[in-house]
Formats: sequence, structure tokens, C-alpha cells
Amino acid sequence: HLEAHGPKGGFSFDGPTGNWDIAQLQRGLKVYSEVCSACHSLKFVAFRDLEELGYSEAQVKAFAATKQVPGIDPNTGEATTRPGEPTDYFPSPYPNAVAAAAANNNAIPPDLSLMTKARHHGSDYVYSLLTGFTDPATFEKDGKRLMEEFPDFTTPDGLYFNPYFGNLNLAMSPPLVAEGQVTFDDGTKATVPQMAEDVAAFLTWTAEPKLVERRQTGWGVLVFLLFATVLAYFAKKQIWAGVK
Ligand code: HEM
Repeated sequence: HLEAHGPKGGFSFDGPTGNWDIAQLQRGLKVYSEVCSACHSLKFVAFRDLEELGYSEAQVKAFAATKQVPGIDPNTGEATTRPGEPTDYFPSPYPNAVAAAAANNNAIPPDLSLMTKARHHGSDYVYSLLTGFTDPATFEKDGKRLMEEFPDFTTPDGLYFNPYFGNLNLAMSPPLVAEGQVTFDDGTKATVPQMAEDVAAFLTWTAEPKLVERRQTGWGVLVFLLFATVLAYFAKKQIWAGVK
């Protein structure tokens, strides 16, 4: 299979001085919320975490209320659903694993909270996967055609060929297919690569919300250590100055 690659020019958070692009994370949330959440849960993210993406408490409250989360009917004691509150976590789209598998050709859509950590070069991988669906009949790697090397290769009904996926055939149909599939509030044109980049960035944030903070702390530590080293050097000189 192919090594994952990121979007052209890379992600804003790449490298030691990278940073989040908050507008992009908001767009990625919208892609997750309107497309991916039909099949994938995001169980480690609470609605109130979205305040870190620049939303107000009131906006988070309103957003949470648009999602149905599992609840208990106070009168009958039976399981039911209720509108979400800021302290709730993103709900799973299926009541259980059996229902999830039944709806997806026996494959269970994995939770996406930590996906960019679970896969090698995860942010790039999510981007590549989403933009990488292609026709196995014409797929080539290193100038060699897959179908010439492996004439028996097939993509069974209900599976989809994707050269970035380890098994090459996966049970997810291409989720991002049309420009304008979501409407971005900031006016950004919702091309397929744009939506893929934005949701990959958002899922990087869900997996490691303190990524940028961690790196910035590292820089601060380096500056401090440099300062402390110089200080120690001069202090040593001063202390020993009188000793011949
Ligand atoms: C698997 C992302 C939308 C169904 C996956 C994987 C990722 C992913 C990263 C894991 C691949 C791996 O194991 O390496 C996304 C994103 C979506 C999206 C970012 C939105 C843009 C959907 C939708 C459906 C779906 C809408 C259902 C209609 C599945 C299934 C699998 C899967 C069934 C398991 C595939 C297998 O193991 O063969 N998805 N997905 N996904 N997704 Fe999605």
C-alpha cells in the first residue's frame, strides 16, 4: 500500500513551530459533525471541549442540544435519548456494535477520537485515506500496475479500493465525494481535499489537544535551560574568582 502524505504545503501544526489554525479546526468539526458522525463516534470528546476551538459557552450549549445522547426516561426507567448538554460526550451513531456491523458490511466504524495517534503519520493518513479512493483497474505503484502484478486481485461487493488502507479494500465508501458537501461558515470553498484536510486537522486536535502547547512549553524549557547554564557559568567564575 502507499505511504500516507499530507495536504499540499503540509498542515499548519506541522513542525516544531507549527500552530493550530482555529478556523480550520472549526471547519473540520463541521465535516465530522455533518458527514463522519453518521457512522463514527468521537467518544473521548465532550461538547464543552469545543470551547477551546473558540466557541462561547452559549454556542457550545446550543450545539450540544442539537445532538441526541443516551438517557433514561425518569418515569419508566427505560433507556431513551435526550438533547445533549455541554458535559456530555459526542454520542455513538449506533446503539451497539452489532448494529454498527450490520449497517457496514460487517465492519465496525472505529471511534475517531484517537485515530490520528493510532495510525502511523495519522494526520497525513486520514487526509490520504479520504482523498485516495481510486479504481483498482488503473492503480499503479512504482510504475507497476496492480492488476498486472496480481491479476486475481478483486474488490468484493460492499468494499471499496483504497491504496492507503493496509488491506487495500475497506468497508467505508468514500465519505467525501462532492464539492460543497458541507457549507463552511467562513466562506472557504468546500472542495474534497479541503474538507479532508480540515477534518484531518480536527481529528489531530481531538487526539492531542495539547500538541501545540506541549511544543511551546518545550521551547520555553530550552530558553530557560540556556539562561540557567549561562548563569551557572558566571556564578561559578565569581565564586571561585578569589581562589588561586
Ligand atoms: C473506517 C475516517 C465517514 C464507515 C475509517 C477509518 C478512518 C475513517 C480514519 C479507519 C481506517 C483504518 O482502520 O485505518 C472517516 C472520516 C469520515 C468517515 C474522517 C468523514 C469524513 C464514514 C462514514 C461511514 C464510515 C459516513 C459510513 C457510511 C467506516 C467503516 C470503517 C471506517 C465501516 C471500517 C472499515 C474497515 O475496517 O474495513 N473511517 N470516516 N466512515 N469508516 Fe469512516
